[in-house]
Amino acid sequence: MDRIHITGGVPLHGTIPVIGAKNAALPLMAASLLTEETLTLSNLPHLVDITTMANLLAQHGVELSMNGALPGGGCDGRVLDLCGRAVANTTAPYDLVCRMRASVLVLGPLVARFGQARVSLPGGCAIGTRPVDLHIKGLEQMGARIELNEGYIEARRSGRLKGAQIIFPQVSVGATENLLMAAVLAEGETILMNAAREPEVCDLAQCLVAMGARIEGIGTDTVRIQGVERLRGARHGVVPDRIEAGTYAVAAAITRGAIELTGTRPELMVATLTCLSECGVRVEPTDKGVRINAVDADIVGTDIMTEPYPGFPTDMQAQVMALMATARGAAMITETIFENRFMHVPELMRMGAQINIHRASSAIVRGVPRLSGAQVMATDLRASVCLVLAGLSAQGDTIVNRVYHLDRGYERLVEKLAACGAHIERIRD
Ligand code: EPZ
Repeated sequence: MDRIHITGGVPLHGTIPVIGAKNAALPLMAASLLTEETLTLSNLPHLVDITTMANLLAQHGVELSMNGALPGGGCDGRVLDLCGRAVANTTAPYDLVCRMRASVLVLGPLVARFGQARVSLPGGCAIGTRPVDLHIKGLEQMGARIELNEGYIEARRSGRLKGAQIIFPQVSVGATENLLMAAVLAEGETILMNAAREPEVCDLAQCLVAMGARIEGIGTDTVRIQGVERLRGARHGVVPDRIEAGTYAVAAAITRGAIELTGTRPELMVATLTCLSECGVRVEPTDKGVRINAVDADIVGTDIMTEPYPGFPTDMQAQVMALMATARGAAMITETIFENRFMHVPELMRMGAQINIHRASSAIVRGVPRLSGAQVMATDLRASVCLVLAGLSAQGDTIVNRVYHLDRGYERLVEKLAACGAHIERIRD
């Protein structure tokens, strides 16, 4: 398994292009199942998870063709045509779903358009059990009959799905997305209450509108959908990845450097940028995105609590914890979304961080002047990148193992950081 070797202590200076959001691209690709026409997605990131979703859709019968990169060429964004005309298979097999939980996002579109679906239950993962009960209950409220057999969700409907009023007991990005895609072809009106408002959910809704869906309340916690008979194809650019951008913003902060993030939209990452400003980082909007300037900054500990959008994103918790580990003073970090998202803590502590976890959901981080490099192990996507960030600031050498986690969510991470002066290399084993 490949590893990443970092020699820390180098302030990063330069520019990093931000690509389309993984967590928007995945539901957008699943939306191709809703129409027999071609959906063209641009600014797609080139990631393992995107390839997994492409393979899943292809085995359903979706025709996919990569028609080149954006005019700027290089690796910044790809253009993919997806055509669901010849979809013949409505089963999403275990061997693909177990690799990527977001595969469950084919459930809503398949039931809505084809009347049936057999989708492997996604297992849990390192950060939590991550059930899909809200996806299932919502579809049942819309008239689908669902059974769980041999680890599969077996859903079918007689006649069209019916619009329903669905109140989510807790905010769920995936359940909102699955039921949004089911509702656009249902008969009548569906109201999603306590719906997720993440930019990636809004991006999906805007793409569905471009495909002919009738959706009101996009970006609010109450979304109204009037079902239509069929959807058409569309062309849609994937929203920039606010978590990738936030990650590289922390890279600038933790190394006391200055990086311009281009292609991003600061208005989508207010909670992250506000946190960094409160820590003492200078956040300067530019005409291409935003510049993060931490040169000579006195970074101080700042409390954070993860919440659904527009609150502080759980996908940035591990990265900011790495920054707090080297800040002046202490920070209380509270994780409210997932029940086990502190797997990076023991690894940070092996680098000299001083962290105490209270009742699994809160961690007190007391900053130290320098972390020390070490051999560390990644357990999930964001924990992996947290360890890379810690290595960038640590004294000495850090080896991050199991970097396959990183390939799921960060395109050309090593190249982007090396271009800003980081002493970082990928060791292929
Ligand atoms: C999405 O996961 C993201 N993944 C996650 O990003 C992100 O952390 C999460 O939203 C929260 O923002 C993708 O978009 C592909 P949820 P999702 O449903 O949809 C519970 C990353 O690193 N829940 O909003 O699975 C659940 O257990 C990944 O890029 C139920 O109980 O998250 C969790 O505690 C990690 N029942 C909470 O809700 C359900 O039916 C939020 O989960 C569904 C969810």
